[in-house]
Amino acid sequence: MTLSNYAFQKCISPTCGETYDVGEVLVACKTCGDLLDIEYEWDKLAIPTSLSQFEAFWQQRTVPARFSGVWRFHELLPFVELDQVVTIGEGQTLLQQADSLARYVGMDHGHLYLQYEGMNPSGSFKDNGMAAAFTHARATGAKRAACASTGNTSASLAMYAAVTRLMKAVIFIGTGKISYGKLSQALDYGALTVQIAGDFDDAMARVKEVCPQLDIYLVNSINPFRLEGQKTIMLRVLESLGWETPDWVIVPGGNLGNSSAFGKAFIELKELGLIEKVPRLAVINASGANTLSELYEQRGIRWDGGLGAPNVTDQYYEELDHTGRKASTIASAIEINRPVNLRKCLRALDFCDGVVREVSDQEILDAKAQVGAGGIGCEPASAASVAGAKLLRSQGVIGTDERVVCILTGHQLKDPTATVAYHTTDQDQFNQVLGSRGVKLASYANRAVGVPNDVDEIVKAIQLYS
Ligand code: F0G
Repeated sequence: MTLSNYAFQKCISPTCGETYDVGEVLVACKTCGDLLDIEYEWDKLAIPTSLSQFEAFWQQRTVPARFSGVWRFHELLPFVELDQVVTIGEGQTLLQQADSLARYVGMDHGHLYLQYEGMNPSGSFKDNGMAAAFTHARATGAKRAACASTGNTSASLAMYAAVTRLMKAVIFIGTGKISYGKLSQALDYGALTVQIAGDFDDAMARVKEVCPQLDIYLVNSINPFRLEGQKTIMLRVLESLGWETPDWVIVPGGNLGNSSAFGKAFIELKELGLIEKVPRLAVINASGANTLSELYEQRGIRWDGGLGAPNVTDQYYEELDHTGRKASTIASAIEINRPVNLRKCLRALDFCDGVVREVSDQEILDAKAQVGAGGIGCEPASAASVAGAKLLRSQGVIGTDERVVCILTGHQLKDPTATVAYHTTDQDQFNQVLGSRGVKLASYANRAVGVPNDVDEIVKAIQLYS
């Protein structure tokens, strides 16, 4: 076993706190069923005394583990020896100052930043977590790995399986719920694709039942090793800002893995004395998949020292079942009503003085068009962070001169259907894809110009429109 003697798994419930060996394959506490964390005996490990010490590893970029934007920070997720990690070059992502978008959001010039996680090998932030989960899976001898997915986790799992040849990928997807960009990846990379007659929440429930039966390693973000990898998104943000903490980190909320991982990163960095200031965290739901927003904003649940109010959550889920309400949003990546990391997200919100908001599909697509107009672009779910920033600015929660980082979780090419429908001149296409979602306008559309097949007409059109 190549796993660290100084890492262990621990139940997050303060009334339980059961611990487990780092080599056990678990996605819940065996005693109380709560989520698990990976914890470390930091005093026995070599921890940098300042974050800037990580810069020394930039010179080791020919070593694959140090080239990785995840394992470059190995000292802060040391559950395995550095020479035993799995990497396919994840985490070479960019923090970009976004000035044209700052105007749209209502921020001062130079204060809004975009963290482009779509630049990962499979086109989404998932690769940060998959590198860590695959590392643990290999160390435990797994032969098959599975996930339920709205598309990006499955694309990432399928890619890691295909590139590394370490294990076979089995993916569970809902019917008609996954964008073609993402589905095409899983199919192309050769994953066994199980299409369930249901949505993501159904697929998640089924994969949790099937994995123990068939001894398959589960790589959804309920797996605590996934979140260790995703902590490094925050480390790269800090790195890009010269190791300064921004005032706000804004992230879309689906299964709530990212927000949970970011919270854990800041809890640890503060505990280790590597940061002074903790940023505020904003988690943004789509209004068609707004469990967190409903529970946090409307029904007032909080982390409350880990005691929370589980009955409020249970009652809400019963209401969903009773009324047959399913998640529904154009941001298919976050079309989730039963976020598995809810409790960890509450902990993150508590530690980071967080807020939760929800934004409509119209707001998401308008924000997405504005992100795209600034270059690089993102998929719809990612733009929830920008739409959320705009909303929080308009509410005066965020000041114009604060430093705000929006996480763009997935690549623009993941969901071309939504993008093309927004920019189309074909009203039927618009109505079919977006009208049914309550989207009425495409205020920032860049429409194609139709011209006859004639040089003079083409020249005339270009002169008219350029
Ligand atoms: N953005 C994108 C592009 C995603 O793919 C996801 C989640 C999220 C945001 C939400 O992140 O779960 O950490 O709150 N996609 C998962 C999937 C559920 O299956 O690909 P979260």
